Amino acid sequence: MKTAIVYSSTTGNTEQLANAIKEAAPDAYFSTADVADPSEVLSAELILLGSPAMGAEQLEDSMEEFFSGIEGQISGKTIGLFGSYDWGDGQMLSDWGERVKAAGANLKGIAKAQLAPDSQALEDAKALLN
Ligand SMILES: Cc1cc2nc3c(=O)[nH]c(=O)nc-3n(C[C@H](O)[C@H](O)[C@H](O)COP(=O)(O)O)c2cc1C
Repeated sequence: MKTAIVYSSTTGNTEQLANAIKEAAPDAYFSTADVADPSEVLSAELILLGSPAMGAEQLEDSMEEFFSGIEGQISGKTIGLFGSYDWGDGQMLSDWGERVKAAGANLKGIAKAQLAPDSQALEDAKALLN
């Protein structure tokens, strides 16, 4: 099964989640959002997307740009989300999940970490592959 992992991260917290998933899925397409190839991502059976909470419960800019570019083409796809937040209790990720579902995709799950991921958050991120 082809898996694509695309993420953005400003201080490395979401990147730690992405790297944990990548270690568990070494053959996956793996890219930061700013240079990700939409056709590679859309050809995957499982798409895992990661972003920190930025702005006021917004996706980080490069992920917002990437995700809005594929949002109209993800109907029927299986998508898992991961990311890091601080004070917002992961509201950004819940909102993103609603956006994924509104676009007609199947939401596989959400793995979130407050600031740097602890071991449970890393396990939750890897479990998006299952
Ligand atoms: C400009 C800015 C805006 C942020 N906005 C939010 C927010 O709306 N909600 C929240 O829970 N955390 C917010 N945070 C905290 C980050 O999501 C948090 O530091 C996260 O761990 C960063 O992950 P990263 O290292 O992957 O970039 C913000 C941080 C910055 C610097």
